[in-house]
Amino acid sequence: MNDSPSYQSYMRSPFRSIKHTTYFRVYDELFDKYRGKPVTFVEIGVLGGGSLFMWRDFFGPEARIIGVDLNPNAKKWEEHGFEIIIGSQSDEAFWSSFRNEIGAVDIVLDDGGHTYDQQITTVECLLENIGDGGMLVVEDTHTSYMQGFGPRKYSFIEYSKIMIDVINHRFNKFSENRDHRVWSVEFFESIVAFKVNRPASTLESRPTENEGEFDRARDFRYRDNATVTKINQAERALKDYGFLPDLSAVFAFVRDMAVRRKFRARKYFNKPMK
Ligand SMILES: C[S@@+](CC[C@H](N)C(=O)[O-])C[C@H]1O[C@@H](n2cnc3c(N)ncnc32)[C@H](O)[C@@H]1O
Repeated sequence: MNDSPSYQSYMRSPFRSIKHTTYFRVYDELFDKYRGKPVTFVEIGVLGGGSLFMWRDFFGPEARIIGVDLNPNAKKWEEHGFEIIIGSQSDEAFWSSFRNEIGAVDIVLDDGGHTYDQQITTVECLLENIGDGGMLVVEDTHTSYMQGFGPRKYSFIEYSKIMIDVINHRFNKFSENRDHRVWSVEFFESIVAFKVNRPASTLESRPTENEGEFDRARDFRYRDNATVTKINQAERALKDYGFLPDLSAVFAFVRDMAVRRKFRARKYFNKPMK
């Protein structure tokens, strides 16, 4: 940890901040490319002000550091050159005026109240405000497995899993998905990062083929399943015989049943907790 640039900035901060040991490596990994650049960085959750100084030290003098907190006491850090906005992260109207006032930002780090309402509302309201190449990072996401932060069925991690489905449904075989806000999601212990890149997330999904020579190799995808192999052989034999009715949907259904019956990986679906 001692060789971590973000940890060093944390330790150099003249005011109190509280961060978990495992977070510094994640900050270094996610934020390194912005160091020394004129980035706009927003941290939700100011408390003792120490992390504002940490981020200024880490990103350098060209960074615009903005703190958001519900506690008006945080305003005092403006004397030190930080921009402080007072409001609640669970209030959509607050974020609307924040967007009008601040404009586009590069990085948002949510270290606020950590309830699911607060975390989810923040993502929903701020994603559109993040420039391409930027990201929204939510920390202390272990609250998704704890009491006192909202209904677990609607926890922040459950919400993040929907983002995974959204991203994968951009594949061209699925019905059109118009949610292009997030290009990728990265999960760490207690931290989730939503990365924004509109050109990448709006790229048309379609198959391509290069010009290389093809030796007509067979795809052996189902050769590890004897039943499917027989079904495929039967389908090919009927086609070769010139059987006219199109039974491809029937064969697809039977093949799907055979793949499901032979499913062996269920044993890897052990959840670490209930
Ligand atoms: C964990 S502390 C922040 C710690 C700080 N980032 C640090 O590293 O030292 C959480 C802060 O979030 C603020 N907070 C709690 N609920 C909030 C809300 N709904 N909107 C904005 N800030 C909130 C609290 O007032 C508190 O200052």
